[in-house]
Amino acid sequence: LLTGGAAGVGIGAVLGLGAALGVPALQGAGEDPAAASTDDGFGAESISCHGTHQAGIVTPPAAHVRYVAYTLLPETDKAALQRMFRIITGDVEGLTSGAAPLADSEPELAARPSALTITVGVGPALVDRVGAGRKPEWLAPLPSFERDKLSEIHGGGDLLVLLQADDPLAIAHAARMIDRDIRSFVKPHWTQQGFRQTRGAEKPGTTMRNLMGQVDGTVNPSPKEKDFSSVIWAESTGSDAWLAGGSALVVRRIRMELDTWEMVDRPGREQTIGRTLSDGAPLTGGSEHTAIDFDAKDSKGLPVIPSFAHTRRAHSTDPSERIFRRGANYDEGGESGLIFACYQQDPLRQFVPIQRRLDELDLLNEWVTHVGSAVFAILPGFKQGEQLGASLLA
Ligand code: HEM
Repeated sequence: LLTGGAAGVGIGAVLGLGAALGVPALQGAGEDPAAASTDDGFGAESISCHGTHQAGIVTPPAAHVRYVAYTLLPETDKAALQRMFRIITGDVEGLTSGAAPLADSEPELAARPSALTITVGVGPALVDRVGAGRKPEWLAPLPSFERDKLSEIHGGGDLLVLLQADDPLAIAHAARMIDRDIRSFVKPHWTQQGFRQTRGAEKPGTTMRNLMGQVDGTVNPSPKEKDFSSVIWAESTGSDAWLAGGSALVVRRIRMELDTWEMVDRPGREQTIGRTLSDGAPLTGGSEHTAIDFDAKDSKGLPVIPSFAHTRRAHSTDPSERIFRRGANYDEGGESGLIFACYQQDPLRQFVPIQRRLDELDLLNEWVTHVGSAVFAILPGFKQGEQLGASLLA
């Protein structure tokens, strides 16, 4: 019986690979996927993984997030990558729809996807492994910034698997299934776990709060905007045309010094951002979504939004510089912070100039430090019957 223990795990891994490669799979006792179906409807929400773009980028942010970065094994060549992406495709299709992948020894854990999305990206070394001359210029480590204190612990990576769901159990199981199935191609590099308010704790559509207590994510391009595509979706026709419909993701792990932040009085904390803590409204008045008046002056003739305020420094007047932010909180091992993530067409044109301004002057820097950095090309979406990464591996 394949019911746990080291032997079960080993055999499960073999079955997983065999199934994905079209080898008839043995079904161990207690591993019938039908056993996983639920009839109470709880946790059943599933988001289709198929489409022009991958799910998990503009889909409503889920409560839990896990980024898993891998490094390629030296022997993983283009043919092996083709096999690996075939396996990942099958796993993503199964897990996000609530169907346990073949040889899933815990199908009950797959049965409640709870809006699970799995988004896959590639780092520079993976694109190089496929062949020379296909890498966009921006797919490289970011230029360094003066205040960076980056550690390799959360830096770089050749393959990214980003899992998001409203239930951490669904994420843990999906991450484990994928990890098991791709272990002969890659080795784990880093993992980051994040969270936002749980579904039900706030009205749907409420902007998240970060651990400094701020409403975070208000000014963000909306997928409903006419020019949203040109903010985030790759549309190159050159040597990186394989990425059309994909995106560029920047992930920065940003530590917060909450002990000293808490010592600042409320007006000081609000001026640091330029918005109120109570509802995220601009200090120049109105409610959360009222535009900030950066020209407003107080009775002494001083700017209401100080010159050092984060929103003033981060704000872009150049529309081609905008980014689509999708952060999550982290709070582990005695450290708190933000897993800052943003999508764009080209980080060198979009993220970098904003971060240069913040690096130069932003009062928030007194309490935040960038400790991890990675850039990934998020693969284009795929339809049923197609394979993730097909355009890259063609
Ligand atoms: C705005 C927090 C890092 C870019 C904001 C706002 C908050 C905030 C509270 C105002 C509400 C909103 O519009 O979302 C933080 C914290 C950070 C951080 C706590 C670090 C821990 C960054 C970084 C970037 C960035 C690294 C990009 C390089 C922006 C942009 C805006 C913004 C573009 C909107 C500015 C505007 O009003 O036009 N941030 N942020 N932030 N932030 Fe950050």
